[in-house]
Amino acid sequence: DKKITIAIDGFSSTGKSTLAKQLAKELGYVYVDTGAMYRAIAFFSMQKGYIKTDYLDRESLIKSLSSIRLQFKFNSDLGFAEMYLNGENVEKQIRTIEVSNFVSKVAEIPEVRAKLVEQQQEMGKNKGIVMDGRDIGTVVFPDAELKIYMTASAQTRAQRRYDELIQKGDSVTFEEVLQNVEERDYIDTHRSNSPLIKADDAIEIDNSNLNREEQFELVLDLVKQKS
Ligand code: C5P
Repeated sequence: DKKITIAIDGFSSTGKSTLAKQLAKELGYVYVDTGAMYRAIAFFSMQKGYIKTDYLDRESLIKSLSSIRLQFKFNSDLGFAEMYLNGENVEKQIRTIEVSNFVSKVAEIPEVRAKLVEQQQEMGKNKGIVMDGRDIGTVVFPDAELKIYMTASAQTRAQRRYDELIQKGDSVTFEEVLQNVEERDYIDTHRSNSPLIKADDAIEIDNSNLNREEQFELVLDLVKQKS
């Protein structure tokens, strides 16, 4: 079978990463979580003091972009790659609700997107890749052989994210998580630069009513048709 590029886009907590990881493992492909890259930039901005309550100092962030080095390193115990920011493993730090609350503001900045898209295209140049995000099928790999657009209701998605955060020991309320999900949906679909939209040739999967196995089998069939 020839190696292809698989682009998975959709709102937050639609199960994109679960599906992408399953596919990468089954096919022996590389999995890239592009949300982790935007999250790492948001975390960097917090560390540097560029984010204060509701304000983001865009100019300072843009100036320091060239000093930010992002890498994925495969962790064989976990079975997936973890995010490194300037040599430091930040996998835990980028998954907090604080980072989630700011990441979409950081992701609106054209200079941030240009930097990350370039790195993503480089990572995918040899195909054999599953990448998930918001603009993978539209901007990063418009020629991807297989494009999936995942959806699920905001309630379903907030419940998933809430369960994840509680399991990690974060003290959040369901309302707070739902509000964050809805806010990010809004910003991600309304920004002028690379908004989240379904690519014309993407296959839409609403997984509100599909379990993991059903969804996996469905997409695996699509991969077989394309490769
Ligand atoms: O996928 P995840 O929810 O971790 O992504 C976090 C945020 O990063 C999204 O809400 C979005 O604002 C941004 N993002 C993006 N483009 C991508 C991936 C993520 O703008 N390709």
